[in-house]
Amino acid sequence: MIGAMSIHEGRKLAGKVKCAAVIGSGVMGAGIAAQLANAGFEVMLLDQLPTDLTAKEQQAGLTLSDPAVRNRMAQSAKNNLLKAKPAALYIPGFASRIAAGNLKDGETKIAKADWIIEAVTERLDVKRQVFAWIDKWRRPGSLVSTNTSGLSAMQIIEGSSEDLQRHFAVTHFFNPPRYMKLVEIIPGANTRQAALTAFELLCAQRLGKGTVRAKDTPNFIANRIGAHGMLVTLALTEQLGLSIEEADALSGPAMGRPKTATYRMLDMIGLDTLLHVIDNVRERSSDMEEKEIFQRPAVLEKLVAAGKLGAKSGEGFYRKQRGNSGESIIEALRPLSMNYEQQAKVKSPVADAAKQAKGTAAKVRALLLTAPSHPHARFAWLSLKATWLYTAHHAYQIAETIEDIDKAMKWGFNWELGPFELWDAIGFRYVAERMREEGERLPDWIEAMLESGKEGFYSKEQEKRFYIHQGSYTAIEQEDDVISLQQLKESGKTVWASADASLIDMGDEVVCLEFHSANNAIGSNILAALRRAADDTEQGWRGLVLANEGRNFCVGANLVLLLMEAQNGDWEEVEDIIRYFQSSMQRLKKMARPLVAAPHRMALGGGVEVCLPADRIIFSPETYFGLVETGVGLIPAGGGSKEAARLAAARAEENKDAVTGLYIQPHLNRLFETIALGKASTSGHEALALGLARSDDQVIMRQECRIAEAKRAVLELDRAGYMPATEQPIHVVGREGRAVLQTAVQAMRLGGHISNYDAHVAGKLAYVLSGGDVQSHLAVSEQYLLDLECEAFLSLCGESKTQQRMQHMLTSGKPLRN
Ligand code: NAI
Repeated sequence: MIGAMSIHEGRKLAGKVKCAAVIGSGVMGAGIAAQLANAGFEVMLLDQLPTDLTAKEQQAGLTLSDPAVRNRMAQSAKNNLLKAKPAALYIPGFASRIAAGNLKDGETKIAKADWIIEAVTERLDVKRQVFAWIDKWRRPGSLVSTNTSGLSAMQIIEGSSEDLQRHFAVTHFFNPPRYMKLVEIIPGANTRQAALTAFELLCAQRLGKGTVRAKDTPNFIANRIGAHGMLVTLALTEQLGLSIEEADALSGPAMGRPKTATYRMLDMIGLDTLLHVIDNVRERSSDMEEKEIFQRPAVLEKLVAAGKLGAKSGEGFYRKQRGNSGESIIEALRPLSMNYEQQAKVKSPVADAAKQAKGTAAKVRALLLTAPSHPHARFAWLSLKATWLYTAHHAYQIAETIEDIDKAMKWGFNWELGPFELWDAIGFRYVAERMREEGERLPDWIEAMLESGKEGFYSKEQEKRFYIHQGSYTAIEQEDDVISLQQLKESGKTVWASADASLIDMGDEVVCLEFHSANNAIGSNILAALRRAADDTEQGWRGLVLANEGRNFCVGANLVLLLMEAQNGDWEEVEDIIRYFQSSMQRLKKMARPLVAAPHRMALGGGVEVCLPADRIIFSPETYFGLVETGVGLIPAGGGSKEAARLAAARAEENKDAVTGLYIQPHLNRLFETIALGKASTSGHEALALGLARSDDQVIMRQECRIAEAKRAVLELDRAGYMPATEQPIHVVGREGRAVLQTAVQAMRLGGHISNYDAHVAGKLAYVLSGGDVQSHLAVSEQYLLDLECEAFLSLCGESKTQQRMQHMLTSGKPLRN
């Protein structure tokens, strides 16, 4: 939530931030530094000054005055960032934006930092020491935040200068900072409104995070509610005599929560970390009931005492063992005996019913209502009830609004719905009545809602959404730069809808084609919808956006029909499928109005091919973009290979005046290698770096803004007097260039990086990308390259190894390297 007051001043303050310093280069400090670098900030990463030399440093003849020794800690954290999995940096090159240093030598440098983030060990004395250092050396007016997970902000800055206090807040990132959306922001008692706004703008707009405002209470919002939920689950597992596998089967996706559910997630977080969170709440809370809940569970204490801390120590509630023939076996803890047994498959009519149901609300309803007296349904109800009651009773103690609580749980714990949203989805009154019947005490503000006839925590009227606040509904501010297709559809903006796609009016005479097939895979329905959308856009709209709100933008072409035709040897049908795909892409390319694509998360194979005809692509930071067809023994043939050849030639043209095969070759080599290895980018930035995008394409920091940005780009192209590009011949590298690509294939094969069959597929790809059997630098037509694509694709479809690969992908969702 961005504060309304002082917004202008806050924006000015945030706008000045160019250089950031992160103090403490551990898990969080390094991750935050990486996200700052991803966003383009210049970053100083500082840690302690070593007091001794390591054996290696001694051997190398280094002394304590060498920078390599002095900056050792932060430097090694920076080096590790390059190895982090999942990647912390959008591209490895962004590491150059991070300078590793130490606090002693940083004394003279820290004044340069516009924003200082403290991320040292979670100990009040250590943090206070570091704050005294910051206060001494910082430049007045610079922003200062702490990444504590639950210490008191007030105590951390006690005794700090007035200027520091006025420019201070807690910015609580979640691990890993690149991937976890949530940042909880907690102002201090003396924080200037403009500084608070600046922190919110920096985290939301520059770093692409989702911010919520929290109060200075132990563990803030998400960890407090999350830890409470885990404690309740642990207690209920024991009380109802369930196994930990049963508890996990019920408290994961069946409840709209991640697959890691409760016990797996605990292993990931670290059991010692949970103890720390529990202690912090218990010691600082004055509520006796809460103190009672936040006691250390015996099973956790026993595990931690035995050094079983979860994933980081290899054993926790689960552990991985090797079987007699080397296979891996997952074992689960039996808390009564503290022994492990091979994890058992859970039999539960209740969990099965939830699995069958579609959507979070339906799943939870199935969990609660299929067989309400079954112990699994009792477990689900009691644990949800406990979370609802705890959250409702503590809501205004920890947060400003219930909306912030819901966001915190969705963004910080990956819940599908926040606690209040879920309560509404199950039935506001039903849940409240059931609680009352069971003798529970509801907080006064909910009793007042029931009395005054309110029907939920949220309400909707026309296009606006509201949340309950101090007894009445308050409008949820819709940000200008966020467009929700779902909301547009709900307010009747669908122009037409077919089985797999809808055309939606986005306002300002711009339309969006949204895919909604299974996994957003492209089949003939989507291709027909694309053609229809192109026709309609030319008839009466300023331009077209290709975007959707699915889990992934598009996972590729639907292989089911293709495989069936190939297995039947019906080559005419296969050719028809390819030609229809190609001509649909050409239709988009020749559309007389601007076309902008906004992919997000996975855009693979055909998902990339539908983006390539666009005038511009707006990439979300988390876009995994790749022509990965070789994974199923094919090459891109929906215009993707032709476009790759064109991209290589266009890059050469941008870089050199004369376009010759020689200049094209390096660009083509890079694209060839990427496509031949079936590689997808690990970020939007990497899609640009791999050469899969054009110079006009753009990466934005906030995924939720991609649709609005795409619309803006359409309008910009339209206002500039849009003219569709005329078809230009494509310069290819020809026979000589193909020989270069073939040499690379041989090297990859001899090096064991690819199989013989991969080499065979890559050979076909090399033939198409180089323009077939022609001389170097010949200009060929698009149709000529499309024919080459089609021919190569058809011949690969006839090969049994390609058919095996397609089959494997359809059954397992994974590529087969045969
Ligand atoms: P860590 O133990 O991985 O790293 C702490 C770093 O601080 C170390 O590199 C250490 O050398 C450095 N350090 C300690 N004293 C220092 C001093 N006086 N001057 C300079 N550097 C010093 O810890 P982690 O996990 O990165 O946590 C850091 C902070 O982030 C803590 O406050 C923690 O509660 C919070 N946090 C941790 C999360 C997690 O999942 N690990 C999530 C969110 C917040």
